[in-house]
This record gives sequence, C-alpha cells and structure tokens, in this order.
Amino acid sequence: MTNILPDGPQIDIHRVLLARPDDYDGWREAARGLVSAGIPPQAVTFEVAGEEVGLFGDDAPLPEVSREIRVPKAFPGLAKRVALHSDAERYALLYAMLWKLQANRDALSDRADPLVDRLNRLAKEVGRDAHKMHAFVRFREMEEDDGTERMVAWFEPDHHITRAEAGFFIRRFPNMRWSILTPETCIHWDGETLTESPGATKADAPDGDPVEATWKTYYKSIFNPARVKVKAMTAEMPKKYWKNMPETALIPELLAGAQKRESEMIETSLSKRETVPAAPKTRPTNIEAAWAQLRDEASACTRCDLHCHATQTVFGEGPLSPQLMLVGEQPGDAEDLAGKPFVGPAGQLLDDALAQAGVDRRRAYVTNAVKHFKFVARGKRRIHQSPNAGEISACNWWLAQERELIVPPVTVALGATAARALFGKAVTIGKLRDEPQQLPDGSTAFVTVHPSYLLRLPDRVRADEERARFIDDLKRARQFAEEAPA
Ligand code: URA
Repeated sequence: MTNILPDGPQIDIHRVLLARPDDYDGWREAARGLVSAGIPPQAVTFEVAGEEVGLFGDDAPLPEVSREIRVPKAFPGLAKRVALHSDAERYALLYAMLWKLQANRDALSDRADPLVDRLNRLAKEVGRDAHKMHAFVRFREMEEDDGTERMVAWFEPDHHITRAEAGFFIRRFPNMRWSILTPETCIHWDGETLTESPGATKADAPDGDPVEATWKTYYKSIFNPARVKVKAMTAEMPKKYWKNMPETALIPELLAGAQKRESEMIETSLSKRETVPAAPKTRPTNIEAAWAQLRDEASACTRCDLHCHATQTVFGEGPLSPQLMLVGEQPGDAEDLAGKPFVGPAGQLLDDALAQAGVDRRRAYVTNAVKHFKFVARGKRRIHQSPNAGEISACNWWLAQERELIVPPVTVALGATAARALFGKAVTIGKLRDEPQQLPDGSTAFVTVHPSYLLRLPDRVRADEERARFIDDLKRARQFAEEAPA
C-alpha cells in the first residue's frame, strides 16, 4: 500500500514491471487482470525493467484475469503499435484506453477524445519509423571469424521497433546471413533462426564496401535534378540517417550539379521527338534487386492516407526490360485483393485489346499511377473513387523510380490519371491521342483512354467504335516500340 498524497486518500498502487520496452504481451496480460479486478488507471503504474523509477507501488502479485475482457477489433493492432513507441507514458495511456473501452465499446471512434488522438498519433509515429527502417537500412559486407560472409547494417530507430520489424527483413532477405545493429538491441538472421544480442554502437558496424559502391551507382542513376526538393527530401530522409547511407555522400555533389543537369534535361525534352530512355544512362548493376527493394519499400508506403483502408500496395509487374510500359490509374477492387495490377474486369478488357493489337502482355510492364485502391464503402461493396492530385503526386515517388529503373522505350498512359502522373500536370486525352508524345523525362508516350471507360459505355455501337480506337492506339505504341532503336 502506498499513500501517494500526504493529505489525500490512501490508494493501493499496483506496479507492473514489464520485461522489455516492447513487451506488449506482458502489458496485455497484466492489463487484463487489472481491468477484470476493477483497478482504475490512476492506481496503476507501468515500468520497464532497467528503466524503473520505482517511486510508488509494490510488486505484489497482480490480479489474475477473472472475467472475459472484450475490446473492439481495432484495439489490439493499435495497442501493439503504441507499445513500440518511446513515450514513457505509452503503457499507462493504453491502460486508460482499455479501461474506457469497458464502459464504452465505441470509445475508439471518438476522434475528439484527446486520448484517442494521442494514441493514434503515437501509432502513426511508430509506423513512420518502421517505414524509415525498411527504406534506409543499408547492409555492408563483413567477414566473420570462420570466414563466412555476413551482411551488417547499422540503424538508429526513434522507437522500439527493431524486434517487431525483424519479420520484414527475414521475408526480404530470407537466404542471406544478416545482422541489424541498433543502440538498443541487435537482431541476427542465419537463414533459419533469428537471434538477438544487446545494443551496439556504430563502431561495431563495418563501413564502406562493394555493396556501398552498388548503392552509390544506383542512387546516382535515379537522381533526377528536376525533382529535387531539398525540404521534402530532408523530411522524408532525415539527416540523422544520411550518415549510414552511402548514396547520401553524393547529395552535395549532385545538388551542386543539379541546376546544370536540369537545364540539360529541359533542352533534351524540347529537342526533336526521339526515343530517349526515361532516365540517365547509368542504371544500377542489379536491376532485379533494386526493383525488388523498391517494391518492398512501396509495400510499407504511408505517403498519403490511401494506405489506411486499402488491403495492400499493388506494385507494377512484368519484365524489367519490357517492350512497353502500361500505366493505369489505380488498382480496383479485384487488384486490391489479389495484389496484382489489371486482373479484374478492366484487366480482362485490356488483355483482349493487347492481344488484338499484337502486344504480348508478358512483354509489357504493367503498373499504376497510384498504388493503393481508393474507394468508399457502400454496404459490402467498395465503390471506386478517383485519386486526387495530391494522391497522384505522392505516389509519383514510386512510379518515377519504377520508370528510372526500367527505362521503358515507350509508355502507354491509360486514362487521365496516368497521363497526369506522367506529364506532371493535367492534360486532355483527346488533344494528345493518336500522336506520340514526349514526356518531361524525354521518353516517348502514347496517351489513350482507360479500359474502364470502355466498360462503362452504354451504347453498343459507340462501345465497339471506341474499343477499336483503343486497339489502334495500342497498335501504334507497339509499332513505335518495334521501330525504336534498341
Ligand atoms: N484499373 C486500373 O487503372 N488499374 C488496375 O490495376 C485495375 C483497374
């Protein structure tokens, strides 16, 4: 028993000692017992072993769970994320929310509640940290004492996410022996088992090696001076991470040359129409690996809010040296569930039209301007919504990088959204159709309608005419690609 206020009422403070900073399971077990025993939030403190303040409370056994504790479906996911935050109050806040949910099961939907707002913010910050870890971990080669090779990376997360993110790296590099060292904890994968060791320092991680050179080449090749926005760049890639990333050593040099290269690019795009590749000539040596990395980074994308409701990111697919690149609008309902572009009704129409135009879909790289499905729910149905300019622009981060890696000889923009993403501004399809167009990166594009438009035409005769015109557009693109220099 502890009297917390000299003149106040005596209250028992229950101290919960959690094993680790990310001990969600420990918190859950204790919290369920405390809630079922009716212990209010003001009578509980949560501490993490090794960081105890130990001012109040005792280590008396915590109450056992004595009744069923029910929470809304969204709570465990939110709580798991919040538990990874570095905010010292996170576990107490979660307990206060759990307590509240016992009285009002809908309490989580009350966006005006400061507690709900704070928990959502913490969860978002953890999500952002995880996204940065996926994107900015850079492995360097190291030889172990027994002569075997291990890839080692140094990373400094803001929150306690390392253990929780191990699965991402196992899925990404299942056959590689790797270690990720962080100040709090280190994780190691040997191809079969994940192990942990205490935190490390940057000096424990190797510096500079052939992997680094590959990264530098890759970064140099994808650096597009016309897209440099230093503010946005530092917001997305905080300077804290720069020192771990070989390519960032190039940034000052590249920025210095950016203006000159930008003028060169503008000049190229104004000069004669010709098939110019979509990116500077130096491409990364391992395109497959760079593409797979990009796809994995996109799978954790939170650049706009569309990820909140979509099932998954639908990245592009197809050969990385395609005959054509086809760019659609965004995944639809079927694509969102399948994780693949153009597999639903619009995809079937596209497949038929491609076949009639003599294009083998297996030789086309098919992608979308926006990689998450945007919809409104109507009962059990999800109704497509067009992406807005902000969403198109946020997602251009991925499309531009796909194009810089793939360097398609010819691109087909399917509909207004794709055209907007590719031209960087709103354009009128009717005005650009029929003739090859030059994109701002200097490469060639054909603009046509979106297959969904053809599916929606009610008049049979008109639909047949429009479909024939669509096939002609695809044919023209194919012919142009066939005539383009290799
Ligand atoms: N519509 C699109 O624009 N893309 C798809 O992947 C599917 C439907």
